[in-house]
Amino acid sequence: MARMFVVDRDGKEHDVEAKPGLKVMEILRELDYGVAAICGGLCSCATCHVYVDPSWAGRLPKPQSDELELLKELPDYKEATSRLSCQVDFTEALSGIKVEIAPDT
Ligand code: FES
Repeated sequence: MARMFVVDRDGKEHDVEAKPGLKVMEILRELDYGVAAICGGLCSCATCHVYVDPSWAGRLPKPQSDELELLKELPDYKEATSRLSCQVDFTEALSGIKVEIAPDT
């Protein structure tokens, strides 16, 4: 089984089983400490905001313009590591990726 390491808003790291083929958001929203994902993945709410560990961030496909526009409006946006997790496909190749849940906005 593929895995993700998820750092919650208290700074605690969790080792989570993750199914390839899902969006990262779909994995995170099932967790008590995960994301709200209010818009359900339509790239309009930003409640699925995460920081991808710098060692993994460069391995992801670049964000599309609509994701980037929304991210840049967030007060906690970090240029190098911020992503909307509903726009990131979790694949077998990403097993072991580390993401941190961004602060509530
Ligand atoms: S779930 Fe709303 S922007 Fe990702």
